[in-house]
Amino acid sequence: MGKGVRARRLFSTSDGVEEAARILRADGLVAFATETVYGLGADATSPQAVARIYAAKGRPAFNPLIAHVADTDAARREGRFSPMAERLARHFWPGPLTLVLPLAETASVCELARAGLDTIALRVPAHAVALELLRHAGRPIAAPSANRSGHVSPVDADHVLEDLGETIEAVLDSGATPVGVESTIVACLADRAVLLRPGGAPRAEIEAIVGPLSAAEKGKVSAPGMLASHYAPRARLRLGAAQLEPGEAGLDFGGSFPHSSGAMILDLAPDRDLARAAANLYAYLRRLDASGAASIAVAPVPVTGLGEAIADRLARAAAPRPEKSLI
Ligand code: TXA
Ligand code: MG
Repeated sequence: MGKGVRARRLFSTSDGVEEAARILRADGLVAFATETVYGLGADATSPQAVARIYAAKGRPAFNPLIAHVADTDAARREGRFSPMAERLARHFWPGPLTLVLPLAETASVCELARAGLDTIALRVPAHAVALELLRHAGRPIAAPSANRSGHVSPVDADHVLEDLGETIEAVLDSGATPVGVESTIVACLADRAVLLRPGGAPRAEIEAIVGPLSAAEKGKVSAPGMLASHYAPRARLRLGAAQLEPGEAGLDFGGSFPHSSGAMILDLAPDRDLARAAANLYAYLRRLDASGAASIAVAPVPVTGLGEAIADRLARAAAPRPEKSLI
């Protein structure tokens, strides 16, 4: 652990999970693993607790949070499900799909967690420890990715402690997260499904259930967190590279880079398996960044299946940075 770290590392035993739930019920912040990335959890019904998430992340309060719940019944108390939303929940939950729904009258999630919107983002994560934690907490848990705003999302407990070790109460360490990229976000507000963010649930699988997804309307930021520069390492990224320039580090896919002596090259998936590439993406970006290279050459990755989410995150990581990051 780095200096100044004060967060406790809890383990996914029944004692660890109960202690994590106790901290959450007392307005504390606990980072926990989901199948996608580590989330920074707080009681979604408590404005005091949710305010601490925004402060810890350095996240603007106009950016709403996903409420995590243990099952679809709990989700139905928070959001109004259209028949289309019901079909998606039945097929994908628990799993890496977030549904944005009209707010239900019985909703308990506080206005701050929703950034004042009359819609709500809901998800049931496919991770045994996360589900156990949600059941013990007994209320929706708001959880953005457990990184400082604009940084690369954490896929293990050490990443969480590097970014937030001094500002949160605990991290529930459950090892590496299996999917590695955030959930797919789909809005079901009228009688169509709109893709707000590609992610761990591939487009084709969703379209097989509800037909073609609509694109989010241009000029209208429907997932306020989806600003251009995001998920950014310190180094610049050069996308679609065929080989390394002198001094560059390399993020390869399928062994496409010629050998470059002395350079650090990590291959997302030598066998071109996109699920493996997604799982390795953020950890490899962190390692290449830590090499000190000013630029990272990134090999082309096919934009099919999970490749759509990978391409989206790489494009954001490569986008020009605002002077002072807003996100
Ligand atoms: O996989 C994931 O989704 C992870 C894990 C921890 O569950 N969470 C995550 O949260 O990626 P976050 O906060 O980094 O991204 C949530 C996104 C943001 O872009 C936010 O703007 C959008 O969801 N969002 C939340 N509520 C919304 C709403 N009511 N309408 C539209 N977009 C919403
Ligand atoms: Mg995030």
